[in-house]
Amino acid sequence: MKSIVEQLNEIFFESLTTVFGSEISLPSPLIVPATNPKFGDFQCNIALPLAKILSEKPKVIAEKILAAVDLSDICEPLEIAGPGFINLKLTNDYLISQVEIIQNDPRLGVEKVTEPERIVVDFSSPNIAKEMHVGHLRSTIIGDAIARVLEFRGYDVLRLNHVGDWGTQFGMLITYLKEVYPDALTTADVLDLGDLVSFYKQAKVRFDSDDNFKKISQQAVVKLQAGDPENLKAWQLLCEQSRREFQVIYQLLDINLKERGESFYNAFLPVVVSELEEAGLLIEDDGAKCVFLEGFSNKDGNPLPLIIQKSDGGYNYATTDLAALKYRINTDQAHRIIYVTDAGQSNHFTQFFQVAKRAGILTEKTTVVHVPFGLVKGEDGKKLKTRSGDTIRLIDLLTEAVKRSRQDIETRLAEESRQEAPEFINHVAQVVGIAAIKYADLSQNRTSDYVFSYDKMLSLQGNTAPYLIYAYARIKSISREGNINYDELGENASIILKEVTELELAKDLLKLSEVIKEVESSLLPNRLCDYLYELSKKYNKFYENCPVLKVDEPIKTSRLILCDLTARTLKLGLSLLGIDVLERM
Ligand code: ARG
Repeated sequence: MKSIVEQLNEIFFESLTTVFGSEISLPSPLIVPATNPKFGDFQCNIALPLAKILSEKPKVIAEKILAAVDLSDICEPLEIAGPGFINLKLTNDYLISQVEIIQNDPRLGVEKVTEPERIVVDFSSPNIAKEMHVGHLRSTIIGDAIARVLEFRGYDVLRLNHVGDWGTQFGMLITYLKEVYPDALTTADVLDLGDLVSFYKQAKVRFDSDDNFKKISQQAVVKLQAGDPENLKAWQLLCEQSRREFQVIYQLLDINLKERGESFYNAFLPVVVSELEEAGLLIEDDGAKCVFLEGFSNKDGNPLPLIIQKSDGGYNYATTDLAALKYRINTDQAHRIIYVTDAGQSNHFTQFFQVAKRAGILTEKTTVVHVPFGLVKGEDGKKLKTRSGDTIRLIDLLTEAVKRSRQDIETRLAEESRQEAPEFINHVAQVVGIAAIKYADLSQNRTSDYVFSYDKMLSLQGNTAPYLIYAYARIKSISREGNINYDELGENASIILKEVTELELAKDLLKLSEVIKEVESSLLPNRLCDYLYELSKKYNKFYENCPVLKVDEPIKTSRLILCDLTARTLKLGLSLLGIDVLERM
């Protein structure tokens, strides 16, 4: 189903073409939500720019448009306001017809794309032997939400985990473990990720302070990358350990993605080098093979080199990304590739995209987008840390949220003198705790930093997951109370929209498809969060003003349908954010 704005835009565009089309090439009709509900639901602002182009008074243009456009099926008679704005107010009959359409549509009016192109979403992508940090959590949550929205729209989405499994850290780690814990390099399961991370830290200290150690480590990487069996075996064991730990997090967060780490592209790296060479882009600089970037300069104002192959033969992060891009275009046949990482990597992406374009690896046929996000801060405004100043382990962060959410439920149950089975409490704590973490992240505009606060994210008030899940559960409780089966309200029951709050709710329910399309193009999941929050507030107002169970037919069924549609919209919307609902909480 076309969203209301799309329908209005189309009708306006057609009329405008008839009236002015021969004179000029038309801009879009500029249909926007009304600035004040007093003026109606939407307004068309096209008369002002058109007046400029045609050197006429905006009011005259607006009158010409009014005479030509026929919106009698959708709107009350149109009105001109101010210098030439056209106010549009939807008719009740039209609203009712639209509500009936979504009521009978399991997709609630969100149509599938007609050309389901293939989209790669590269997200999460932690590094082996290093702890997954909060940045990876953001990438995981945001990437998953984006992938879910695109999948729901019908795209063929390939979710890729570009795990850092091939860098200098292995040379360092293998060299260090050979010294202090050789068993870890030959036997599975002797380490857990916690140990691995602390070994990693110790190895890094050695690497930074001991030149000889550094040299041996670098040789170990080159050996590994050249396929030395002993180093390969050690590497496999280390990856296996990390992978298991990552999986625990993915399971908790219900994340599905395909691991295709940096190592996967190892065999393709020399091809990238020779292609850049053939394109005439490679220049030797201090023994390293580089591409000099356009528009980037170093401190001294000289062109900045992007190192493709180091003097010792090793390759870099960007080289792997070039190889991965080639593979995704040629083998995966991706039309669009979306990279979800912290904003700190913006330069990396701009740079390697530039090189890929200049080398002809990336052409107009493929769109690449970096989806950056900001930092997570502690309540003190600084980088999120534990009390003792250490980096917070993700698993601890998630467990803590669930623990606190359990405390909240227990307090609430005690206040209400309610008895519930332990399984119920466990389930609610788990769903709400994880939902709170995800929603707190997704509801922020991803480009800004945000402050991590358990209290805020778990609050039943405000733009939080518990608030939305609670709104959903409350609607479900109405059906229990009134012994109603929402699925059997009858396809032909009539919708009645009379009260202001009914109308407001209905209009909001009709916005879902527009919002989803908006998220699809902006890749900003917070737009969906804002919408769901707004919808819940509208619902609550409706519920306060309009009795649902204690009212006569046919109003009762009509209101129940509005309740059901709200619940379905919340459930669908939250599911696209990777968040579960609860029938009871
Ligand atoms: N492993 C990288 C990191 O932890 C993120 C990788 C993102 N994806 C990519 N294709 N570069 O920062």
